[in-house]
Amino acid sequence: MLSGDLVAVWEVALSDGVYRIEFAHGTTTGKRVVYVNGQEVVRKDWMFKLVGKETFTVGSSDTKATIAIEAISGFAYEYTLQIAGKSLQKFIDNRAQTTKTWLLKVDGQDYRVVLEKDTMDVWCNGQKMDTTGEFVDDGTETNFTVGEHECCIKATSSGKKKNGIVHYLLLDGEQIPASTH
Ligand SMILES: *[C@@H]1O[C@H](CO)[C@@H](O)[C@H](O)[C@H]1NC(C)=O
Repeated sequence: MLSGDLVAVWEVALSDGVYRIEFAHGTTTGKRVVYVNGQEVVRKDWMFKLVGKETFTVGSSDTKATIAIEAISGFAYEYTLQIAGKSLQKFIDNRAQTTKTWLLKVDGQDYRVVLEKDTMDVWCNGQKMDTTGEFVDDGTETNFTVGEHECCIKATSSGKKKNGIVHYLLLDGEQIPASTH
């Protein structure tokens, strides 16, 4: 599928999934091709300008992504990815603050559960979940089901000023360790 012009690959974790972005750049034809999870989303076969930007969207929330092509010296190029207007690293750092992710296996199937802490939206394998939220003595509980199983995200005060609230996931009452993405 990909030609020898593949020059950059990035992985971007969004709430509805982890996306692999591949970029092919032909420095004689100016060709630019972008693939998201193997699907071609941008194709330009002939471009006089070898530097510049390509913008497209990723995921069901249409997150904006931009690849910048810059000449660094002679005929060497540098490719950088921006997501939602931020450098990829800034975007990752920001998501580490604003989201929490759990990877779990239930009845032999893999699930990726993502909590968006500011909205308390919960995503599971690309779907935004129907949840019921309630206040309890030590914080909040946000419940939803995965397969036949009851999940509960508890938010409680950490007792520390710095990272105020901790979130943890219970599957049938058992705590699931959080993932790094
Ligand atoms: C939410 O889940 C927790 C833990 O499983 C349970 O104790 C609680 O009763 C549930 N709340 C609702 C409203 O279903």
